[in-house]
Amino acid sequence: MKRFSDVVNYRRAVRKYDPDYAFDHDVVTQALELATLAPNSSNMQLWEFHRVKSPEMLEKMKACCLGQNAAKTANELIVFVTAPQKWRDRADMNAKVIRNAFASKPNTPEHVFAYYEKDMPYLYGGVDLIEYKGLDKEQGQELRKNDVRVILNKSAALAAMTFMYALAEVDYDSCPMEGFEEGAIKSLLNLPEEAEVCMVVSVGKRLPEGVYGPRLRVDLSDVVIEH
Ligand SMILES: Cc1cc2nc3c(=O)[nH]c(=O)nc-3n(C[C@H](O)[C@H](O)[C@H](O)COP(=O)(O)O)c2cc1C
Repeated sequence: MKRFSDVVNYRRAVRKYDPDYAFDHDVVTQALELATLAPNSSNMQLWEFHRVKSPEMLEKMKACCLGQNAAKTANELIVFVTAPQKWRDRADMNAKVIRNAFASKPNTPEHVFAYYEKDMPYLYGGVDLIEYKGLDKEQGQELRKNDVRVILNKSAALAAMTFMYALAEVDYDSCPMEGFEEGAIKSLLNLPEEAEVCMVVSVGKRLPEGVYGPRLRVDLSDVVIEH
């Protein structure tokens, strides 16, 4: 069993996979299950993981990834997508859990329930932010939508990271990609207008030449700043 540090050290961005390897798609299933355990904003789980694995769809997706090496030889391409359109279901799910947890406490103050019943609809459903930030209606909506985009992309990226580490634990390989044609992917996968492609992750078994050189990182002192 690998230690977590082994997993982190093993994972590399892989650009060439072994075409002869007996790839087990169940490994991807298990890694995606672990990906759903990633931390995510307000536990709204506003993400989808689209598995592209049929030969025809893979060909089309590889073209959407601009034919780049990291995609070309992949056994599967997983598209990590944000799903803001599902906000109401997810807010309701969380609200129900909280209502049930407090069912035997009739004097629970309303603010305990407000987070999923008022704040989430406010953030995801759209509100007038004139008073809140002194913005006109259109600016307010724009700001809110951008905030939501950032929030959802952070969570989807954490799911993608969890997925890649889960693969690395069992010696499977991956490469995260942002080099893709988002519009083409959205129409290929039938994604709604509001959804965003956070990342495409290619999966396969590495060939030695699939890792481009030793790991390169800046000095710790350049990125860790103590206060
Ligand atoms: C958000 C993100 C986008 C990336 N996009 C691409 C990409 O489009 N194509 C590619 O070959 N690698 C891509 N990478 C991989 C990085 O180049 C790679 O992680 C980095 O060079 C460090 O190498 P390592 O992951 O092996 O440590 C991406 C990585 C991240 C996190």
